[in-house]
Amino acid sequence: MNILLTGGAGYIGSHTAVALLEAGHHVVIIDNFCNSQRSVVNKIEQITGKKLICIEADVCNTPVVLKALQENQVDAVIHFAGLKAVGESVQNPLAYYANNITGTISLLEAMRTADVNVLVFSSSATVYGDPLYLPIDEKHPTSATSPYGRTKLHIEEMLKDMASSDPTWKIICLRYFNPVGAHDSGLIGEEPQGIPNNLTPYVARVASGILPQLQVFGGNYPTADGTGVRDYIHIMDLAEGHLAALNFVNQHPGWIAVNLGTGSGHSVLEVIHAYEAVVNSKIPFKIVDRRPGDIASCYAKVDSARELLQWVAKRGLSEMCESSWNFQRAK
Ligand code: NAD
Ligand code: UFG
Repeated sequence: MNILLTGGAGYIGSHTAVALLEAGHHVVIIDNFCNSQRSVVNKIEQITGKKLICIEADVCNTPVVLKALQENQVDAVIHFAGLKAVGESVQNPLAYYANNITGTISLLEAMRTADVNVLVFSSSATVYGDPLYLPIDEKHPTSATSPYGRTKLHIEEMLKDMASSDPTWKIICLRYFNPVGAHDSGLIGEEPQGIPNNLTPYVARVASGILPQLQVFGGNYPTADGTGVRDYIHIMDLAEGHLAALNFVNQHPGWIAVNLGTGSGHSVLEVIHAYEAVVNSKIPFKIVDRRPGDIASCYAKVDSARELLQWVAKRGLSEMCESSWNFQRAK
């Protein structure tokens, strides 16, 4: 298939591009590089030994997206492009609505004109808000705790309306839990600008001595060791989940949301200890106040992914930490 990846140079997009190319698909990327490097494209080609097409453009530019769909005879789109920093979205909500919502409307207009009706959308476990029960299944009520989360919710609803309005649309919203780690080559991985907000990139920088100490946000949550629990999923498992989702959605008109996680939660302290085992040294950390907006625990019920997509995550926490460290060292 010919597959367009909006935001395909980013963290999840680049790993998915590798999985798609290795499975024999043709890949076209549209990215404006607002949160990624152009060099990632060469690295994807280096890993796979295959060529892809990369167009530097904003997904809000409908004519460019339309041209990319038509000229490359695109069969399906995976829509990664979006801004994703929760704190930044609180500071600057308009940027999030403008980029994430307008970008999706632009893409949908181009897809409708080009008669491309297969779409995989990058959603997030953030649409479940503060969980009412665990593990979280797809029937769990949705809510948003930040403008970022609200963009994901609004887009999901918009896509549902599109599917109701025209039965030829085939749309799957993938609700990712916490993607971590990197490709085994160490060539691509998660490269946040400045000081990382997320746990594993922060731990990687402490392990390599770039940052002195990790702050553990909260030691008194109602969890086994008092620190926050998340469903960490290896980035290559997540990438392979997109292939499974594409195969499924191609044969299933309508709209559906599916969780992509492992189904197991790990605490911050467990992640630190798993990383320590990989680097064979202590990771300095200090327990500090809770981070505003954080929840205690979040992990997925993964039955839908297993039954519908025939996909399960295979890699464990130590492989996630190993690949993260391998990428950090390669840098
Ligand atoms: P990322 O920032 O690494 O990748 C996003 C890519 O989109 C970047 O390359 C960026 O340059 C590009 N982009 C952004 N706006 C664009 C626009 N208007 N036009 C063209 N390109 C644009 O983020 P990621 O971690 O790879 O996330 C991909 C998607 O998955 C996002 O939609 C994000 O919200 C979602 N998601 C991520 C996580 C996570 O923890 N990483 C969790 C849940 C959901
Ligand atoms: N944490 C620390 N110290 C840090 C960073 C994080 O203790 O320096 C803790 C957090 O308190 C939390 C856990 O590590 O308990 C994971 O935090 P992350 O910031 O890595 O991830 P979140 O679960 O907060 O959020 C991530 C993405 C969101 C997405 C959500 C669900 O950043 O965009 O997963 O998919 F919505």
